[in-house]
Amino acid sequence: MVEFTLPANSKPREGKRWPAPAGATKIRNFKIYRYDPESGENPRIDTYAVDLATCGPMVLDGLIKIKNEIDSTLTFRRSCREGVCGSCAFNIDGVNTLACIKAIEDIKGDIKIYPLPHLPVVKDLVPDLSVPYAQYRLIMPWLQADTAPPAGERLQSPKERERLDGLWECILCFCCQTSCPSYWWNGDRYLGPAVLLQAYRWIADSRDEATGERLDQLNDPFRVFRCHTIMNCTATCPKHLNPGKAVAEIKSLLAKRMM
Ligand code: SF4
Ligand code: SF4
Ligand code: FES
Repeated sequence: MVEFTLPANSKPREGKRWPAPAGATKIRNFKIYRYDPESGENPRIDTYAVDLATCGPMVLDGLIKIKNEIDSTLTFRRSCREGVCGSCAFNIDGVNTLACIKAIEDIKGDIKIYPLPHLPVVKDLVPDLSVPYAQYRLIMPWLQADTAPPAGERLQSPKERERLDGLWECILCFCCQTSCPSYWWNGDRYLGPAVLLQAYRWIADSRDEATGERLDQLNDPFRVFRCHTIMNCTATCPKHLNPGKAVAEIKSLLAKRMM
């Protein structure tokens, strides 16, 4: 797993400590990044003592318990609680992952939760995803075909359908995108592993007829070729996908066109 540590001088200050309720029997500390840009104050880390005896098993259960029972001002995104919507992606214990499928018991010591790294923070654990979503729009994430559809569906052979395995499962959580050093430094021009995996999902689709146009759009010194095959993206994907391989497939298709 890829771990991220903040330089000592950029660590947020210690914030408020919330004690365990009376009678708590199984206490673990959740150390959570807090930031409200409108307050004008610097970020801080608040510590919440949570009684795991009355808490569900996942990190998201702990966050929901804190919000419901201890501090309703804590702000984070979540929806499905099943690892399918991608909204509860945070940096947990140094690794980008989904809080709803990360078991508390798999973490030793305090449970440290930060927003996904290297994105502006809207509030607390909520990052601003405007740029990644604008990049996602750029790759035209929908089927494009000029030929008239046959009666019924546009069919695929089992083999053609198989080529989409490992791609369609992506839930756009952006854990990979925000673990990629190339994206940290060139995120305004490099499209990043999540968006490129999605781009390749449509390039690989036998029903799509815009492959040439899609590759033209990616053929740029920054959009794809800023990937240096470091593979942090693949190491961190909570759905066990391989975005690094998808980027490599696009590079290979672009290289073949140049020959
Ligand atoms: S393989 Fe490419 S996309 Fe993945 S982390 Fe490395 S540089 Fe980023
Ligand atoms: S490839 Fe994995 S880590 Fe990246 S956005 Fe998709 S599901 Fe999330
Ligand atoms: S709440 Fe949907 S993936 Fe975690």
